[in-house]
Amino acid sequence: MKYFLILLTLITSCAYGQDTIRPAEPWPDNQGNHIQAHGGGIIKIGKTYYWYGEERRQGLDTTLRYVSCYASKDLVNWNFKGDVLKMSDPDSLGPRWVLERPKVYYNSGTKKYVMYMHIDNRSYKVAQVAVAVSDRPDGPFHYVKRFRPLGHESRDIGQFIDDDGTAYLVFEDRPFGFRIAKLSGDFMDVEKQMSLIPAHMEGGAIVHYNGLYYSIGSALTGWNPNPNKYATALSLEGPWSEFKDIAPPETKTYGSQSTMLLKVVGKKRTTVIFMGDIWKPRTQWDSRYLWMPLEIGDGKLWLPQPKPWTLNLKTGEVAM
Ligand code: GAL
Repeated sequence: MKYFLILLTLITSCAYGQDTIRPAEPWPDNQGNHIQAHGGGIIKIGKTYYWYGEERRQGLDTTLRYVSCYASKDLVNWNFKGDVLKMSDPDSLGPRWVLERPKVYYNSGTKKYVMYMHIDNRSYKVAQVAVAVSDRPDGPFHYVKRFRPLGHESRDIGQFIDDDGTAYLVFEDRPFGFRIAKLSGDFMDVEKQMSLIPAHMEGGAIVHYNGLYYSIGSALTGWNPNPNKYATALSLEGPWSEFKDIAPPETKTYGSQSTMLLKVVGKKRTTVIFMGDIWKPRTQWDSRYLWMPLEIGDGKLWLPQPKPWTLNLKTGEVAM
């Protein structure tokens, strides 16, 4: 019994005892499995962060598509809350239909959790968003509808919630560029365009930092990495600056692609985390994450060379 208890303590402390974010390395959840939340997004409800993403573990039912959910109080140790959306082909998208880049918004008026995702057929010609809803952060989510936001093509989507709680969707409209649009009051629709940036960018992510909006996008190179770039604006309506590199271009964003910018406001400083995916197209379940604190301010943004780091959520400080 005594040895059993010691063993149990050892196992739980290994599973829970992480304090370091290790870019590009496997990231074990509370069950010891590599986190499956690819192309993901994060919201904070009370003191808990929820991370949603594409569930791509091996052995899934290939006719369904899955969105996973993880919960954490420290952004390092993540508890798997299960696959909160298990969806079948909504209506004749056909074999190898696509559900990518899920993002969840919490609407304090309706008290609903509203999920947006890119939905498509195998040739990516449908180019729509789908919406699913839940009463709880950890699901189950139920599919509601699919449509082209404001009538435009929409492939990669990104999520942005401003400091005043207003919710926006960023989406890639292949013929025209990078669009930023406001959601309706109940978040069930895309209501108003804020900007069309005539640049062919996907993996859109935005942060509002010290009075300036910074948006990051990736070039359209499929699963292959490319030099991600950023632009700034005083208002979401623009005008937006030129796009500039976020890292030495030859590193191709250190092999990653942007999915979100997460702002952590601590007592001493505000840290902005770049969340990227390191895709492994042939072994998608092993795709990794590149999370790094950005150097940001005065209109400049830079992704430092990835290395293990720790975050003090209370103070907002990072250490490497
Ligand atoms: C990428 C996109 C991913 C996925 C992939 C498919 O450009 O960012 O979300 O759609 O293409 O090739």
